[in-house]
Amino acid sequence: MDTQLESFLNTLGEAERAGGRVLHELTALPQSLELREMLKKVGHDEGYYAGELAAHVRRLGGTPSNKTGDFVEKVSAVPDLKGKLELLNRGQRWVIRKINEQLPAVADETLHAFLKVMADGHEVNIGALDKALAEGKL
Ligand SMILES: [Fe+2]
Repeated sequence: MDTQLESFLNTLGEAERAGGRVLHELTALPQSLELREMLKKVGHDEGYYAGELAAHVRRLGGTPSNKTGDFVEKVSAVPDLKGKLELLNRGQRWVIRKINEQLPAVADETLHAFLKVMADGHEVNIGALDKALAEGKL
């Protein structure tokens, strides 16, 4: 497969794996049960995207990365939960930006559709978390 596309998909996959790990670590921290449920759901989404990205790489003849991005350490370095969640959302916005940059060059229709759905799913999750933080749910 195209090595530029392979490396793009693997970078995204590593970021999603890191996001999933971060969310798994943060899920138990909030007092708000609603926020806990939300973080669990967002974490499952991250794991789903990581798995699908690996499947697309494999389907297109590439080798999926099994690495985890350095985002886990970045979030660990932030002392407070609110700061961690804000950093999480900044990371999620980075993912949308990266997808939107690459999308016009993605010729494979199934992958194109998946990436569109992944970007939209990120919008939804960012919005939900922003709203919870604005309402002071922590
Ligand atoms: Fe993500």
